[in-house]
Amino acid sequence: MGERALLASRVALVTGGGGEIGGAICRRFAAEGAAVVVADISLEKAQKVANEIKNSGANAAAVCLDVTVAQSCSDAVSFAVKTFGKLTTLANVAAAATPLGDAEKLSLDDWNKAFQVNVTGQFLMSKFAVVAMREAGGGAIVSIASSHGHIGMPGRPAYCASKAAVLQLTKCLAIDFAKYNIRANTISPGAIDTERAALQRFKSREEANRVKGPAYLVGRTGKVEEIAAGATYLASDESAFMTGTDLLLDGGYLAFKGTTDNPV
Ligand SMILES: NC(=O)c1ccc[n+]([C@@H]2O[C@H](COP(=O)([O-])OP(=O)(O)OC[C@H]3O[C@@H](n4cnc5c(N)ncnc54)[C@H](O)[C@@H]3O)[C@@H](O)[C@H]2O)c1
Repeated sequence: MGERALLASRVALVTGGGGEIGGAICRRFAAEGAAVVVADISLEKAQKVANEIKNSGANAAAVCLDVTVAQSCSDAVSFAVKTFGKLTTLANVAAAATPLGDAEKLSLDDWNKAFQVNVTGQFLMSKFAVVAMREAGGGAIVSIASSHGHIGMPGRPAYCASKAAVLQLTKCLAIDFAKYNIRANTISPGAIDTERAALQRFKSREEANRVKGPAYLVGRTGKVEEIAAGATYLASDESAFMTGTDLLLDGGYLAFKGTTDNPV
């Protein structure tokens, strides 16, 4: 824990916590003093992250969660409250892996899955989390959108539309729950060096980073720790004057080459 723990006495639940960005957020939240519930549809992945945190001397617990199922979301919030006494912080990170394909090629099942996990999942988790946060005297919701929620990309109608919906859903959460001292913000990451993002269109992470890097003002793709740093800011009182808005962590992509001429 650092000299000044930003999340001391917080209890955080991170969906998709077994994944790459979710795992980094769990580790950073724990390092900043939060007790962390690592929630993922893969209990094995969630347990791995939770064990790593516990081995570092911080507080964590794993839970199996399917964000598309209301009862599962309600149970995960109850688990957090039962295990750590309250819930103050929700990070909505889980997302579906949607195949590339334009509207003609993309199946209705893949379209529905993207919306069920990426949008309905965030709605359901927020629905149950705000009740616990209200009881805790307030809280913060940090939802992962994407730079692709701001622009269109070829072959990604479901992903882009669902991430744009996340931006709007979060604004409404901020408006409706401000009276309970609950803030809600999104992070829109650009391309982050992860397995999922790389292997969608490239053979390896190395190849993905080599091709994508030059499209970013900073000359490289992002690191999961850089998204975790943004999530920590939004979860902490450092961002107390920020709600209903978006933190664009995209290495300058949208300012520089964020056009469909250069779809990386
Ligand atoms: N990697 C990038 O370049 C990038 C860029 C912009 C936005 N994002 C967003 O960041 C988030 C994390 O992405 P990542 O790259 O770490 O992916 P990842 O695949 O490593 O993590 C996603 C996690 O979500 C879990 N999950 C899937 N469906 C679930 C469900 N129904 N219920 C609960 N958990 C479920 C998966 O098991 C996985 O652990 C996603 O919202 C993604 O859209 C990623």
